[in-house]
Amino acid sequence: MKTIVTFNNALATETITKISSKNAFDLSGKTALITGASRGIGEAVARLFAINGAEVIVSSRKAESVQAIAGSINDDGGKAHAIACHIGDEEAVQTLMKDIQSRFGQLDILVNNAAANPYFGHILDTPMSAVKKTVEVNIEGYFLMSQLAGQLMRESGGGCIINTASINGVTPGPMQGIYSITKAAVISMTEAFAKECAPQNIRVNAVLPGLTETKFASALTQNEAMLNMILPAIPLHRVAQPEEIAPAFLYLASDAASYVTGISLPVDGGILA
Ligand SMILES: NC(=O)c1ccc[n+]([C@@H]2O[C@H](COP(=O)([O-])OP(=O)(O)OC[C@H]3O[C@@H](n4cnc5c(N)ncnc54)[C@H](OP(=O)(O)O)[C@@H]3O)[C@@H](O)[C@H]2O)c1
Repeated sequence: MKTIVTFNNALATETITKISSKNAFDLSGKTALITGASRGIGEAVARLFAINGAEVIVSSRKAESVQAIAGSINDDGGKAHAIACHIGDEEAVQTLMKDIQSRFGQLDILVNNAAANPYFGHILDTPMSAVKKTVEVNIEGYFLMSQLAGQLMRESGGGCIINTASINGVTPGPMQGIYSITKAAVISMTEAFAKECAPQNIRVNAVLPGLTETKFASALTQNEAMLNMILPAIPLHRVAQPEEIAPAFLYLASDAASYVTGISLPVDGGILA
């Protein structure tokens, strides 16, 4: 049989050896940056990555919040650092990436998870300030973070990017028009980066959480009337906990997903089915 030699055949062989010789979900020796990690889904991802051996950089806007989470991960025996950064601020993102390069030398995993959703209401009444804020954080922020992290990964021979999108990126959530539009853009961004960065050995995937009990979604999860409307549409008939979303990120970050790039993985209790 004719062997087809591809640009990354040697890498594939190396990965297969790793997968078959150890726990395929082990992240030992990897440095991971997680944005929006001071609470909710990002915190759960940072904790799970640390448990599985990664050195994690916990980031969000508030320094004291990320220091508290990093401290708690370190107390639990993990390796964590805190760096505050507003991902909608271009200069702050540039500084963050320079800081990571000088302190850690390389970045293996980026989790683009922080997001903005400042407006809940009819799409026709959306203030342009809310449109701009949502686009600035959810599209421009994710793009610049991916670009700069991707450049670091290209220098060091590869890496992986995981974007937190949403089921609203597939089918828009009612009264969440601009937010849903930006999450659809995140799915498209995931595919565009995945295709162009594959030759640089950078895998790019997205996780699409369903309704998850966090501060972000509290307007829905803490409102009984809303929940009574939403729950019948969820086959598992309940809201997720952040710890139930995080394992999808671990899978996508690990060698277990070595042949997975460009996908959007729903973790949604079956709502998209
Ligand atoms: N919860 C859900 O039902 C649900 C469903 C689908 C998708 N998602 C997505 O999941 C991701 C995480 O949301 P979550 O539910 O875990 O929310 P959360 O618990 O409210 O956490 C949001 C995190 O983002 C940080 N953050 C907010 N704006 C930021 C900015 N401009 N720059 C840097 N950090 C910022 C917050 O910390 P600071 O305040 O310190 O910045 C916090 O750490 C988001 O992308 C969201 O769209 C959530």
